[in-house]
Amino acid sequence: MAGVTKASFGKLKTGEAVDIYTLTNKNGLIAKIMTFGATLTELHAPDKSGKLGDICLGFDNLAAYEKGHPYMGSTVGRYANRIGKGRFKLGEKTYKLATNNPPNHLHGGTKGWDKRVWKAQIVPKPDGPAVQFTYVSKDGEEGYPGNVNASVIYTLTDANTLRMEYAATTDKPCPINMTNHAYFNLKGSGTIHDHELYVAAKSYTEGDADLLPTGKILPVTDTPYDFFAQPAAIGDRITAAGGKEPNIGYDMNFVLLSGAKGYATVARLSEATSGRLLEIRTDQPGLQFYTGNFLDGTLVGKGGWKYVQHSAICLETQHFPDSPNQKSFPSTMLMPGQTYRTKTEYACLVK
Ligand code: GLA
Repeated sequence: MAGVTKASFGKLKTGEAVDIYTLTNKNGLIAKIMTFGATLTELHAPDKSGKLGDICLGFDNLAAYEKGHPYMGSTVGRYANRIGKGRFKLGEKTYKLATNNPPNHLHGGTKGWDKRVWKAQIVPKPDGPAVQFTYVSKDGEEGYPGNVNASVIYTLTDANTLRMEYAATTDKPCPINMTNHAYFNLKGSGTIHDHELYVAAKSYTEGDADLLPTGKILPVTDTPYDFFAQPAAIGDRITAAGGKEPNIGYDMNFVLLSGAKGYATVARLSEATSGRLLEIRTDQPGLQFYTGNFLDGTLVGKGGWKYVQHSAICLETQHFPDSPNQKSFPSTMLMPGQTYRTKTEYACLVK
C-alpha cells in the first residue's frame, strides 16, 4: 500500500536505536531509508516489463553498515568530497580537519554525517510519501565551525522519482556541501561496464594524483570523460579513465552545463537488458562520477553479493571538491542567517 511505514533496524554498539522507513508510491516503487547516516538502503525500480528490482548497493543488516563501508547510500556532510590537506581558512583563522583520505579530508571526516544517527519524521508532501531526517551537528564537530542544523527530505513521488531536498543553517560561517552517495547498478548484478551514460557537461575540474582539484577546468573533448557529445558504455573507455593501479576507473568531477543557475537533468544512466533508465536532476554545479574503483570483492553486500571493482556507479551531485580553498570555484560558504538549500532527484524510468 502506498505510504510510509517505520520499523526498527536494530541498535548500534553505542546502544543507539536505528529505524528504517519504507516509502511506497502509488505505482508500488519502494525506497528504504534508515536513520543511521540518513542512508538510502534500497530503491526498487521497474524494468521494461514492469518488474521491480533493487538498483542500489548496500547491506542486509545494521551491523554490516556499522562495520564500515564506502558511503553506500549515505547522506554525506558537512562537506562531501575532498578538502585539500584537511585545511581551510576563514579570515585569519585556519581550520584543521581529519585527513581521512591522506593527504586530504574526505566526505566530512572520521565520523561524518554518514555515521550519525538522524532524527526522522513522516512529513506530508502532495506528490508522494516523504520522510524528513534532521541532524544537529555541534560547533567543532570534526573540526568544522558552528552549530549546524541539517535536514534532508526524501520523497518517493508518484512520478517514480526519489527526490532529496537538503537544508542547513549555521551560527558561524562554515562550508557546507551535502550529497547522497548511492551506488547504482541497474541490473542488480555484475559490473556497470555495459551501462550507458550521458552527462550534460563539456568540462571537468582537473584532479591531481590524489584526486584534489588543481584549480584548472578542462574541456572533456577528446578525453574518456566526454559523455556529452559521445554518450557511451562506461566500460568502453574505463581503462583510460585514470586512477592509480589497481584502482582504475572514473573518479572525477564534472562541471555541469546548467551550473548552479537552475534545476536541470544532468545525467542519464541506462542498461539495455533491464531497460532501466535513471535520470539525475539537480540544481548543483558539479557531479562526481565514481565507478567503485576501490571495491575489491572484500565487502559482501545484500544477498551475498560480492562487491568487486566496478560493481556500481555513483553520480554525486555537489559543489566542486576543495571549494573552500579554490577562490575561482562557486562558493560553498554558509553564513549565519542564510539557509543552504539544494535538491536532487533520481528518476526511475524505462528506455
Ligand atoms: C567518492 C570519492 C572516491 C571514493 C568514494 C568512496 O566518490 O571521489 O574517491 O572515496 O567516494 O569510496
